[in-house]
Formats: sequence, C-alpha cells, structure tokens
Amino acid sequence: MRVTDTSDLWWKNAVIYCLDVETYDDANADGVGDLAGLTRRIDYLAELGVTCLWLMPFYPSPDRDDGYDITDFYGVDSRLGDHGQLVEVIRTAHERGIRVIADLIVNHTSDQHPWFRSARRSLDSPYRDFYVWRDTEPPDTSDQVVFPDQEDSIWEYDERTGQWYLHHFYKHQPDLNVANPAVRDEVLRVIGFWLELGVDGFRVDAVPFFLDDVETQDAPGVGGQPHELLRRIRSFVGRRKGSAMMLGEVNVPHQEQLAYFGGEHGGELDLMFDFITMQATYLSLARGDARPLARALTDRPAIHPACQWATFLRNHDELTLDKLTEAERAEVFAAFGPRKEMQVYDRGLKRRLPPMMEGDPRRVRLAYSLLFSLPGTPTLYYGEEIGMGEDLAAYGRMAVRTPMQWSNTKNGGFSTAAPSKLIQRVAPGGYAPEHVNLADQRDDPDSLWTFIRSLVAGYRRCPEIGWGRVQIVEQPHHQVLAHRCDLDDSAVLAVHNLSAEPVTLDLTVTGADAHTVVANVLSKESVELTDGVVQVALEGYGHQWMRVHRDSDPHLA
Ligand code: NOJ
Repeated sequence: MRVTDTSDLWWKNAVIYCLDVETYDDANADGVGDLAGLTRRIDYLAELGVTCLWLMPFYPSPDRDDGYDITDFYGVDSRLGDHGQLVEVIRTAHERGIRVIADLIVNHTSDQHPWFRSARRSLDSPYRDFYVWRDTEPPDTSDQVVFPDQEDSIWEYDERTGQWYLHHFYKHQPDLNVANPAVRDEVLRVIGFWLELGVDGFRVDAVPFFLDDVETQDAPGVGGQPHELLRRIRSFVGRRKGSAMMLGEVNVPHQEQLAYFGGEHGGELDLMFDFITMQATYLSLARGDARPLARALTDRPAIHPACQWATFLRNHDELTLDKLTEAERAEVFAAFGPRKEMQVYDRGLKRRLPPMMEGDPRRVRLAYSLLFSLPGTPTLYYGEEIGMGEDLAAYGRMAVRTPMQWSNTKNGGFSTAAPSKLIQRVAPGGYAPEHVNLADQRDDPDSLWTFIRSLVAGYRRCPEIGWGRVQIVEQPHHQVLAHRCDLDDSAVLAVHNLSAEPVTLDLTVTGADAHTVVANVLSKESVELTDGVVQVALEGYGHQWMRVHRDSDPHLA
C-alpha cells in the first residue's frame, strides 16, 4: 500500500455513517430534523471517528417514499433548510476530516416532478420520452414489484394519454428513461451540480433498475450497453472531482456484482453494499454457525484493488433476507423476528439489531465486532452506535426511522417541539430514550457507544482490514469464524465465537518466524505465539482481533 493509495482511495478504509437529516436533530423546534441541527452534531460524528457521512435524500419531495420521491433534483427540502445550510454541513464536516456523500436517485422521480406532470399531459410533451411508456396492456408483472404491500404491477395506466408508464417502485415514482440521451444529460448535470457544491460522491440508488432501460429501450449513444452508461457516468464524476466516489445499491448475487464494478478492471462503481454477506451474517448468527458467513466471504469475486465492498448490518430499508433460500429465511425469521408484525414484504425484518439479539450485549458486540473486522468498508446507520431499537407500530420500513436518541429528555433530545409535532414518534418501550440514549453512554467506558468507538478506531488503525487479502483460517469449530486479512508484511487475525459456549482453539499463524509479533488490537492483553501457534480462549459470543507483524516494523508496534 502506498501513501498515494491511502489518500486517493479513501473509501477503501472509510467508516461510513448514514443518517436522514429529518430524524437527526431539530434545531428550530418544528419537529423536523434540519441541516442546522446536523451541523451542530458534526463534532459528535468526529468524536465517534466516522470518516464519511452519507446523507439520505434531502431534496424537495412529497415524502411518500421518505424522500426517495423527488420533485427537484437541484433543490433542498425547505423543511430541512436551504443550500446555504447544506454547504455549512459539508464545510464543517470537511473541516473535521469527514467526507460527505449524497443519495443520487436517478431511477425515477416523484409523479409530482414538473417533468412527469408535463409528460403525462400529452403524447407531444417535450418530457414524454423522459419516462418509459407502453401502448399495450402489460403482462402480469406482479412477481417483479418491489413493494408487494402496495403494488401489483410495475406498469400503471395513465387515463389521459392512454398509455402505461413504468415504475419499478411505487406507482407514484415513474421510472426515468435513461435510454434517452436528454435524460442522461440531466443526470450528469445533477451530478455535476452537487459535486460543485462540495459533496465527495454519491450513494447511487437502485442501480440495476435504472440501467435496465438501456437494454429494454432503444438507447442511442451507449449501444444498448448498460455498463457502458455506468462507465460514462463514473468517468464524468472523476473528471469533475478526482477524489469523488460512487457507492452503489446493487442487491444481486456476488458474481453478478462484479459487472457493476466494471469487471476485474474496475471503472464503474467504486463500492457496492455487500447484501449477500450481510444476509449470510444473520444466518450465521441465527444458527450459531460461522460457515454461511465464511462461504459468503470466500464467494466474493476478486475485484479491482481500487474497488471495495461496503459492509453493513442495518440500513434504512427492511432488513432484506431475499437472497437466502426460503428455508434459511424461515430460520432467521424464527430466530430474530418470529411475529408477523416484525416482518415485511415476506422477505425482510422491521427490526434493529439489539432487540433481535434480545438485548444481549455479548451478541450485539459480537455482531459489530464482525462488521468492523470483515474485509470491507463498514457502514453504520444512525443510532446503531448507541443500540437503538425499532418502533414496530410504525408502518413498514418506517419502524427503523425513528428520531435519534441524544438524551433522556423530552423527545430523546431530538426536538423541543410538542411530541405530537414530531415527524415521527421516538421509539417506545424498552428501547425508548429513558433506556437508550447517547448522553448516558458517552462517558461510560462500558457502554455500547464506547465499544463501537473502539471498533471504529481499531478498524482505522488496521488498514489490513480494508486493504488486505482475506483468507478463512482453518480450525475445527463450526461456531467460530477465524479470518485473516494480509497487507504487505502485516496481517489482522480476527476470531469470533458465534455460540453461547466458551471455546478455546489453537490458531496457526502462517508465515510466523522468530521476528513475528502478535498483539491484541482491542485490548492490552498480551498474546503468546508459540511455535507459530496462538491459543485463543473465547467466552460465549466472544471475539478477539490480533495484529501480526514484524518486530522490526516501527509503525506497527
Ligand atoms: C432504494 C431505497 O433504499 C429505498 O428506501 C427506496 O424506497 C427505493 N430505492 C426507491 O427509491
């Protein structure tokens, strides 16, 4: 690893933190979080140690899909603030060494977007071809809908013009037609606009869906090649801002993901969420058996060294288990969300992690220790660092979008507005702010917050995790994941016990010689290396991270 790599390819070992401005901190007491509130929390994020802030959509929106339904790609939702306040967020974050990425949603607009309002007025509208239309009655597409609780087709009949329009998501989110060069120009302008304003890249929504038009429609200029379009978008981003990155939402099998990285030569998405490893992690946790997770890690295709997997345990959507088999999904449901009200769309869970682990701090810490030690770039969803729970009474995915719990004061310190004015009520019950809040945890050396902070620091101290080559270390216990990330002359060896029973194991440190030193990363306890073997004793749900290096290495001691 070279110095130029570590600074240029910053996403290889970033710690990403995702939040929705409207539920983070309300500075003007109207019940809705805002940009001014976020600005005053940037020091908090710096203290936690995150290096990249992902802002969920902050654009003007009728808010029928939590802001993913946009009416103006260049705007800022006035409830949150204005462009000036957004620039202050970005500027403050940069000043604290935190990069900022924005959600880029180009698969669709809101049906209230001026383009769609014009498009549906007449067949001759200049914006008609900004969307995807068909003349004939569509076939049954009920198996393709993303939100089966609300939709039964991906086509909607438009009375006025007598055609059907495509909407992969809700019917109020018509798909943009990126096969149309005029739409592609708009997409690039939008990207250029936000880069110019200071963002450091994008979390790109629904990538396979928006690229789909290129194949299904006539797409002049990109020869019907969806990946050619993605490559062009990535080149444009690079030309406009050399340090910017693109993190894509692409929930497809590992082997198919490779194409979205641009194959083994790269050049398309820089990062992609690893939905497969996330789902395998839950299966492994449910079974107390590390093998599904080990298999997912070894099944990852080799990617270009500039590319990276974004690892996560939770995001703002349902905790999807769609890539597990039906029987596997049933196991995870039984373990972590047995009641119907905990499930959504027959494929996912509405819950956050601590309640799923029945509040057992050993299991919660095990899961986060895994997240930060798995090869990749860890992504936290706000509130995970303090162990927030969900609100099962909230509709669908809204269950995990409750306000951030800063303190045990009114509305969890999120807002001083009347509780009835809040954009969403604060999580109730055993995970309410009385029980879970930042203020109680911040100075407590034994709190989850302090633990997560030490994982963030440990991960940042160990570039091997983000940059290295991973191997599963052979050992006889199915309940244990032992993995090793090697980079140049050093390695990180991490061991996790997924079962409730303590276990002791001997681990061979391949390549060890008289100059090899093994040290604990997360604790000060010394590690004995005897004849190239370390003995590791783990409590039930215990973990240990070790760094293997040369005694001559001045940086790593
Ligand atoms: C994916 C986003 O994560 C989700 O929240 C949204 O509903 C869909 N894309 C549609 O934009």
